[in-house]
Amino acid sequence: MKNIIIFGAPGSGKGTYSDKIVAKYGMGHISTGDVLRGEIKNGTELGKIAKGYIDNGQLIPDELMIDILAKTYDAEPAGKGVIFDGFPRTIAQAEALKKMLAERGHDMGVMIELNVDEETLMARLLNRAIEQGRADDNEETIKKRFEVYRTQTAPLAEWFEKEGMRNTIDWQKNNSMDAMLSAIYKVIDTANA
Ligand code: AP5
Ligand code: MG
Repeated sequence: MKNIIIFGAPGSGKGTYSDKIVAKYGMGHISTGDVLRGEIKNGTELGKIAKGYIDNGQLIPDELMIDILAKTYDAEPAGKGVIFDGFPRTIAQAEALKKMLAERGHDMGVMIELNVDEETLMARLLNRAIEQGRADDNEETIKKRFEVYRTQTAPLAEWFEKEGMRNTIDWQKNNSMDAMLSAIYKVIDTANA
């Protein structure tokens, strides 16, 4: 299986669709947000550093994030392909990922961009706040996360375009979880054909 980079704003469904892809294709899944929340829960040094950034809706510094990502990737079983969920989020992270994979004889595979309007995203995240109580799911922090996404992460879509990897799937056009999933599976199956 080719690697997959699932890309999109907070609440766009990166985690939700990753779970479905894992169930269908049996790939590995690295969510950098989940990795960091695990570190916070375990009270590690890294968790203490990460907490300040996450609670404020800001990105963890690139050098730290790139180091964590490489360690997490190397702990995955080889050969099954991995979904990168929430990484890369900056051009520096994207360049580092490309280099890290090339050093291991692997490639980035396919990028899937989930395009969802902010009103829908806000409603989903406020709903998740009630269900799961994630520390960064409050209106003020969600707005900061949107701003960080718009200014630091969204421009990266162009970088993927130049790499010939960009596949955008639009919520407005599909408008149901099943239709989104069909479109996602089609991209994955085409890439692996
Ligand atoms: P991270 O955990 O990655 O959060 P995020 O990008 O803000 O995205 P979310 O996890 O909130 O949303 P999602 O796209 O996974 O959507 P979900 O499937 O849950 O990162 C958190 C923080 O960690 C960052 O702010 C940063 O501080 C730090 N960080 C992480 N990675 C980093 C990196 N690479 N560099 C630097 N810092 C980093 O869906 C949302 C909700 O919608 C769910 O409840 C779902 O059930 C619901 N939902 C309703 N309808 C639908 C539908 N039709 N499709 C999908 N989901 C739906
Ligand atoms: Mg997520």
